[in-house]
Amino acid sequence: MNFELTEEQLLIRDAARDFAQTELKPGVIERDEKQQFPADQVKKLGELGFLGMMTDPAYNGAGLDTVSYVLVMEELSKIDASTSVVVSVNNSLVCYGLEKFGSEEQKEKYLKPLAAGTQIGAFCLSEPEAGSDATSQKTIAEDKGDYYLLNGTKNWITNGSNAAVYLVIAQTHPNLGHRGINAFIVEKDSPGFTIGPKENKLGIRGSDTHSLQFSDVKVPKENRIGADGFGFKFAMKTLEGGRIGIAAQALGIASGAYELALKYAKERTTFGKPIAEHQAIQFKLADMYTQIEAARLLCLKAAWLKDQHQPYAEAAAVAKLFASDTAMRITVEAVQIHGGYGFVKEYHVERLMRDAKITQIYEGTSEIQRMVIARSILKEGF
Ligand code: CAA
Ligand code: FAD
Repeated sequence: MNFELTEEQLLIRDAARDFAQTELKPGVIERDEKQQFPADQVKKLGELGFLGMMTDPAYNGAGLDTVSYVLVMEELSKIDASTSVVVSVNNSLVCYGLEKFGSEEQKEKYLKPLAAGTQIGAFCLSEPEAGSDATSQKTIAEDKGDYYLLNGTKNWITNGSNAAVYLVIAQTHPNLGHRGINAFIVEKDSPGFTIGPKENKLGIRGSDTHSLQFSDVKVPKENRIGADGFGFKFAMKTLEGGRIGIAAQALGIASGAYELALKYAKERTTFGKPIAEHQAIQFKLADMYTQIEAARLLCLKAAWLKDQHQPYAEAAAVAKLFASDTAMRITVEAVQIHGGYGFVKEYHVERLMRDAKITQIYEGTSEIQRMVIARSILKEGF
């Protein structure tokens, strides 16, 4: 077993760390307050190859491994989770889904600009009444011969207004249940497609979350991904990798808060000595460090399994469950270590605490991760 990162992985991690400090940190508080999408930052991330990190260079990607992706997600998320969620969705849901399951024509037309970062994509599974219960899709894609007619509503869609390309899951054969579901590529300017107002959120406020309405939207037959009825499996397979990205986002939020708390604990003096010399604070820091180490190892293990072409659905769910709970616990402690200063925006930890919460909800809630893990361990007879 080798815990060493390669030279290339370390360089990529350092590049992401540098980008986060120089490009994301300035303005991160203001973007959060104003709910401002990080458009310039996302454009630069695209130019640097961070939006198609794992995509084959033949389709304009950087051709890197999933371990590098985890390292990058951690570094970006230490500073700005509103930006890192764009990186996660574009890389591990949209580019991965198209590269793994799309046709050659779909890859040429849609994957290339997405992996180059000149466009970003959105992944549209959730509906007002189908979140965790994702097979209950109400959006209908009626087969009309040359095209599908799409009608319905998607909820909570990340990159909702800034995407150019939307991967939309919909029901084509309701009598077949989840085996009647398809996945489609929908272009933003399709007639009948409208974007609802931006959600006003607790955290990741810079990220643009919208509902989407489809009213008699014609989707060409060639824009269906995979065979008829493959859509639910497409969503599940794609989410396996997505969950590694969100686990790494949670890890980054936790380690960002920990680093701030550690620094503050050495600077702040009470009762004649730095608070880091009070054992109560030392124990908090020791617990935070331990939990982050464990979360990081789980994220890297899931990424490594994917890179080795081994099954990774269970490892991804374990990593997301643990890392997102870790992010909540550690950000709450980081605010506590900062005392009153932790409660105001300038010290960053209150934002990290608000941002942490979403990692327990999206790409499958913590309860859903437990279901996935339980089904897996019971099936394998552990
Ligand atoms: N790979 C392949 N197939 C899979 C699979 C996987 N990982 N997981 C399930 N399936 C298949 C099953 O084999 C089954 O097919 P067959 O009947 O042909 O064997 C079919 O899918 C249905 O599976 P289940 O019977 O297990 O379905 P279920 O109704 O019990 O639900 C679930 C399973 C895991 C709970 C699923 O509904 C789920 O993951 N829900 C959460 C949805 C989610 O994660 N949404 C995230 C939206 S994207 C997002 O959130 C992005 C963002 O924020 C940034
Ligand atoms: P529900 O499914 O209604 O769940 C409510 C509660 O019940 C949760 O605590 C849940 O864990 C629990 N619960 C449900 N079923 C069970 C069960 N069987 N056992 C135990 N507990 C259960 N979706 C997309 O498709 N694309 C996106 O880009 C996207 N981005 C998002 C961004 C944000 C900011 C948010 C808030 C959401 C986003 N989502 C996106 C949706 C997200 O994936 C869903 O919110 C999530 O899957 C939960 O679905 P729900 O909100 O309908 O909650």
